[in-house]
Formats: sequence, structure tokens, C-alpha cells
Amino acid sequence: MSMLTVRNLCKSFGETKAVDNVSFDVQDGEMLCLLGPSGCGKTTLLMTLSGFLSPDDGTIEMDGSDVTKVAPEKRPTSLVFQNYALFPHLTVFENIEFGLRTHRVPRSQIKDRVDQMLHIVELEGKGGRSIHQLSGGQQQRVALARALVMKPKVLLLDEPLSNLDAKLRVETRQQIRQIQQSVGITCIFVTHDQEEALTMADRIAVMNRGKIIQFASPRDIYYAPTNHFVADFIGKSNFFEGSYDADRSTYTLNSGKVIEVDGSHVAPLGEGKPIFAIRPEFLKACKAKEVPQSAANRLAATIAQVTFLGELTLYVAMSDTGEPIRFTGYGDWQQFHEGDTIEVYWDRSVGQILAR
Ligand SMILES: Nc1ncnc2c1ncn2[C@@H]1O[C@H](COP(=O)(O)OP(=O)(O)OP(=O)(O)O)[C@@H](O)[C@H]1O
Ligand SMILES: [Mg+2]
Repeated sequence: MSMLTVRNLCKSFGETKAVDNVSFDVQDGEMLCLLGPSGCGKTTLLMTLSGFLSPDDGTIEMDGSDVTKVAPEKRPTSLVFQNYALFPHLTVFENIEFGLRTHRVPRSQIKDRVDQMLHIVELEGKGGRSIHQLSGGQQQRVALARALVMKPKVLLLDEPLSNLDAKLRVETRQQIRQIQQSVGITCIFVTHDQEEALTMADRIAVMNRGKIIQFASPRDIYYAPTNHFVADFIGKSNFFEGSYDADRSTYTLNSGKVIEVDGSHVAPLGEGKPIFAIRPEFLKACKAKEVPQSAANRLAATIAQVTFLGELTLYVAMSDTGEPIRFTGYGDWQQFHEGDTIEVYWDRSVGQILAR
């Protein structure tokens, strides 16, 4: 069931189209991550959903009701900000109960609801503490509890983890995902961290310049990006320029080298120029004589750069025809040195033709 339905939403600031004709659905209990570069319109989209900004055009439905013109405090949403926006002079308990008091929830219910929240965010026994006696991660969980205690239908989070250090970020994102799933709440989570989006989301909306470029599961976003922007923004890819021949299912690199491609791995090209994209982890490499006969595609190359990262090693090789190629080695599999002459090879089942 769709909990949130957005149709043709537009919001401009002067000449800037911050949200440009955006439409999508979020299912009940789903975690949607909005991912995109700085300034692409993530916060503006979230603010129009929460009602703090009114759209120029388009509609927003929540749980079957049109809320496009409904005031923020009357919408079934709660918003969690990057800086938590907690009240420093109030205790943890007082921060969490704040919204319930302003909504005149009977006193008898308040304690039970706050205690339940303290349990959910694993801050039992800390209700009496003041905010500055908490770690950053704990403060973020208070902000989450303060939002959840209002029983919103849609929880909106704007880069809630960006003030935390790397290790705490990973811990806290796991906690938020666990809480979101156990409460079963529909959630929109804004981030510009791709790892955060890939690990937390049921689906990801990749945004650029006010538009949603792709809306899909994390796996599809990573393995089946629909255009160059998504493939370049999420993870690492090799891109080879050239021209595509649909009849022959071949792609001719600018150097003249012809490679075989899988016709089913061609994204809609529209007006865009075709570009061949392949993830580094799909490329295999070995000494020239050792390449299996069955390999559909191969490029002779020389190792130019070796970056050892512990569990894996990143290589940049330069092909004899001038294409830089990035690939990965794991453990003692695919280990080379700078200057080694190798061949890089791959099956036709991997790699994609995308629109640029
Ligand atoms: N109140 C405003 N007045 C004028 N322009 C604005 C306003 N708010 C946002 N913008 C512009 O709208 C565009 C989208 O901004 P927005 O804050 O939504 O981006 P964002 O994706 O959240 O970026 P970030 O990742 O940096 O938070 C930007 O070009 C921004 O400069
Ligand atoms: Mg923002």
C-alpha cells in the first residue's frame, strides 16, 4: 500500500528549480533514501513534504489524504534535523515529551509513551539526564525518540548522522534502520553518503538538479544504473567512450577496439551519447598467455598504479590503446606490481551501455 504519493511536485527559488517535476510513491513501512550531490534539492523536497515550504505545483498524498495545503503541525509527519535541534535546557525526558504536551496529550499517557520510546532507542534510565551529558549518537537517538513519540505516519530525516564521527555513524545508522523496521514506520532519509543509502534503504531515489534520476532498489542502483550520472555517482566505474552497434551487439571504443556487449544491458539512450560502463570488480586480469580462451573481451595493458588497502588492492592500468582501466585484487588473487604487462578481460554478461 502506498503511504506517500507525490505527483509533479515543483519548487523554485527565483531561477533555481530546487524540485523539478518530481513524482514517486513510498510504500507503507518502507525506507526511502534520497541521495544526491549538494544542492540537488534533497532538503527542499523534504521541507515541502513536511509542509514547511509550500510547493509551486503538484500534489502530496499521505495515507490516502491530500495534504498539499495542510499546515505542518497538522500533517502526519515528523522531521529530524542534522543538528538534532534538541532543547539544551530540558532533560532527555522533557525533550521527548515536548510535542505530546503541546498537543495536549493527557498526562497519564505521556509517561508511558516516553518510557516506551526510551526503551525503543535504548536510553532506558537516562530520562533524567540533561542533553549535554549525552554522546552525539545518544543525542541523535533522543531526536529520533522525540519524532517517533508523535506516532507520525511518515518520518523525515535530513542527514541525521552527518555530525557523528565515522564509527558512530555506522553504529547509529544500524540502530536507526533496526528501529525503523521494528516500529514499521515509513521513512524518508536524506543523505549524500552513498554507503549509508546502499546499506539502509529499501529503495533509493538518486537526485540531480531537482530531478529524480533513478528510483530503484540499492542493488539495481548499483548494478543496473540507468545512466552515466548514477553509475558515476554511486561506487566506481570504468567508462569507455565509443559507439554502439545494436545489430551486432558490439561497442567500438574510440581507439578502434571492438568489444562484445549484452544487448539486454543497454539502458534507454534517448538523446544521450552511448558510453560503456563496467565496475572494477567485474574485470579480471592476468598475464597475457593465461587469459582463458572463453573470454569475450580483452585489453592489453600495463599496471600504472597500485594502491594497497589491506583486504583489497586497487589497480590503475593503462591499455595499449590508451584507456585507463581500474580494477580490484582481493587477498592473493590478482596481485601485480607497477610496470607489469597484463591483459584485462571480462565476459559479455557484465558491463552496460548507458546514456551520457
Ligand atoms: N531559501 C532558499 N532561497 C533560495 N535558494 C534556495 C533556498 N533553499 C534552497 N535553495 C537553493 O535550492 C537548491 C536546492 O537546495 P537544497 O538545500 O534543497 O539542496 P540539498 O540537496 O539539500 O543540498 P545539501 O546536500 O548541501 O544539503 C540549491 O541550489 C539552493 O541554493
Ligand atoms: Mg540539504
